Amino acid sequence: MSPRSIGVVMNGVTGRMGYRQHLVRSVLAINEQGGVALADGSRIMLKPVLVGRNPEKLAKIAADHGIAGWTTDLDAALADDDNLIYFDTQVTQARVKAVLKAVEAGKHIYAEKPIAETFSDALALAEAATAKGVKNGVVQDKLFLPGLLKLKRLIDGGFFGRILSVRGEFGYWVFEGDWQAAQRPSWNYRAEDGGGIVLDMFPHWAYVLENLFGRIRSVYAQAVTHVPERVDERGMTYPATADDAAYGVFELEGGIIAQINSSWNVRVNRDELVEFQVDGTHGSAVAGLRNCRVQHRATTPKPVWNPDLPATARFRDDWQEVPDNAEFDNGFKIQWEMFIRHVIEDAPFPYDFVSGARGVRIAELGLRSSAEGLRLPVEP
Ligand SMILES: NC(=O)c1ccc[n+]([C@@H]2O[C@H](COP(=O)([O-])OP(=O)(O)OC[C@H]3O[C@@H](n4cnc5c(N)ncnc54)[C@H](O)[C@@H]3O)[C@@H](O)[C@H]2O)c1
Repeated sequence: MSPRSIGVVMNGVTGRMGYRQHLVRSVLAINEQGGVALADGSRIMLKPVLVGRNPEKLAKIAADHGIAGWTTDLDAALADDDNLIYFDTQVTQARVKAVLKAVEAGKHIYAEKPIAETFSDALALAEAATAKGVKNGVVQDKLFLPGLLKLKRLIDGGFFGRILSVRGEFGYWVFEGDWQAAQRPSWNYRAEDGGGIVLDMFPHWAYVLENLFGRIRSVYAQAVTHVPERVDERGMTYPATADDAAYGVFELEGGIIAQINSSWNVRVNRDELVEFQVDGTHGSAVAGLRNCRVQHRATTPKPVWNPDLPATARFRDDWQEVPDNAEFDNGFKIQWEMFIRHVIEDAPFPYDFVSGARGVRIAELGLRSSAEGLRLPVEP
């Protein structure tokens, strides 16, 4: 007997995330491995139906990957009962309208973050999905990064003692687009088009901090636009109206202070594009996308401050690599498989629209904190 298959409407697959991570590395990769394994031992295949605005681009992707279904007509894709799931990875600004339509059509919904530009819109999505009784989920891929899984393992194993602080450094240089093409889409740099690093990254920091360390009690952020002018995909100069760097301080329950810099205007002098240093009474760790290094209290050197002498200690040599001890799959794919199991056999899926709305709330408070120059409390 051949495995069952379900239709998955995928809107926004001509984009960066939609094509690479969601279509190729998740949905098509799941089919290549024979589908999603269910609890009863059966498997379910995914039948992607690509939706977008540009028929040439859709037809090309479909042909490149042997995909039968594509359309520019979202309503028609939603009207088809074979399509059980609607997935949205469009530009953020286009999300709410399309998701509401899909909820109305009775589809289960999976969506990229942020699920909306404002907290009230995000809550409205959560409420609409609940009222209609459709399952809903938001991409929270960073939780499945090998480096963060190792960090979680350290926390669960009690490695840190009492955790005191978390210091996150995220960023890299995004070219302005004049003499070298920018490596991110230009809408990211226009507030009027849903751009900005706070709306982009604070939803990630919210679920990372709250899943690993504790609920966020307050937010202080300074969001700035360091590069005021950029050049877009067509070679046109435009004013960058959105924040392109944000310096945030998050107070967590238990008194943990998390400080996270997010910037598209820094040159990388780290081992990975994001790194979190966690310091606890019994040990410290530095976790990146893939790797994680630790230093236990018993092996902590005793540096003595003396600017008159050249530094001879190689501090980074005093850290120890955390072993993999497991095989790590693509995080986007893991979450897709979880969501499919949630839809088909009601398996648990904690990353719902309510948690997606929490991320938007933290971003909104970050922007307000920056505008008002205040540290803002977060409701529990
Ligand atoms: N999980 C993550 O790590 C991660 C990383 C980057 C982006 N994202 C999110 O994914 C979404 C897409 O980001 P991206 O970087 O792939 O952007 P992108 O610009 O590369 O792709 C956007 C997609 O939306 C479509 N689109 C553009 N303008 C539109 C409009 N006005 N109406 C309808 N569709 C439109 C495009 O055709 C394209 O298919 C965003 O919401 C972003 O926040 C998530």
